[in-house]
Amino acid sequence: MSISIKSDEDIRGMRIAGRLAAEVLDYITPFVKPGVTTAELDRLCHEYMTNVQDSIPAPLNYCPPGYTPYPKAVCTSVNDVICHGIPGDKALKNGDAVNIDVTIIKDGYHGDTSRMFYAGQPSILAKRLGDITYECMWLGISKIRPGAHLGDIGYVIQQHAEKAGYSVVREFCGHGIGKVFHEEPQVLHYGRPGTLEKLEAGMIFTVEPMINAGRREIREMGDGWTIRTKDRSLSAQWEHTVLVTETGYEVLTVSPGMPPPPAFIKPAGQTETA
Ligand code: MF3
Ligand code: CO
Ligand code: CO
Repeated sequence: MSISIKSDEDIRGMRIAGRLAAEVLDYITPFVKPGVTTAELDRLCHEYMTNVQDSIPAPLNYCPPGYTPYPKAVCTSVNDVICHGIPGDKALKNGDAVNIDVTIIKDGYHGDTSRMFYAGQPSILAKRLGDITYECMWLGISKIRPGAHLGDIGYVIQQHAEKAGYSVVREFCGHGIGKVFHEEPQVLHYGRPGTLEKLEAGMIFTVEPMINAGRREIREMGDGWTIRTKDRSLSAQWEHTVLVTETGYEVLTVSPGMPPPPAFIKPAGQTETA
């Protein structure tokens, strides 16, 4: 088994899919307020994909081995939910932190991205966790170039999270993506520099660290999907889909409303190819 190298045609398709996924997050941003239910956010995203984009929500009925079919179009992970929160009838309260994770399919290609949102005014703790997690994602992305190793990405993410007093979730990771939602490689968010697979131009994978304010252990809910922190501490996540270019990287899940990279990230990676 090995990591696929995308063709120029694949890369063109993945740029479109990535942009559409990011544009769903732009669209939903003003709706994330106290009083809205996560089911309503899901409905709005689903209608935007179907009616405006003519894209397909990849999570709906997604059913990896050992799972039941995922019942909604997006994942909404609130406060101590680490990932795969199922949208439901509970309304967001002032201060709630929610990760919305969107994966769309357009012309057979997947774009996968998530952001943190806050209903009303977040606590200083929740905001700091979200900000550090965002920096973790970008530090990981900034390591991407031909000849680098996947362990380089995990290492910088883990260092930054643990320096802040946080922990890195081990059970879920980034992944290769293309015509398939989850493919090789696994992109761990912890590790050692110089270890694991060597990167080559044309690879496409996600970087999507899940960082807990407390301990890293998880607990699985009875719905078969929702993952929470075992100690009930807050958890945050950000995700981009990224192409390895000849000179560095190109983030594919870009849109007008996407937050800019942290100031310490040099724009050098953004070399256009194909
Ligand atoms: N979007 C998630 C990821 O980043 C996967 C969600 S699978 C679902 O890989 F079925 F829960 F939606
Ligand atoms: Co993903
Ligand atoms: Co995702």
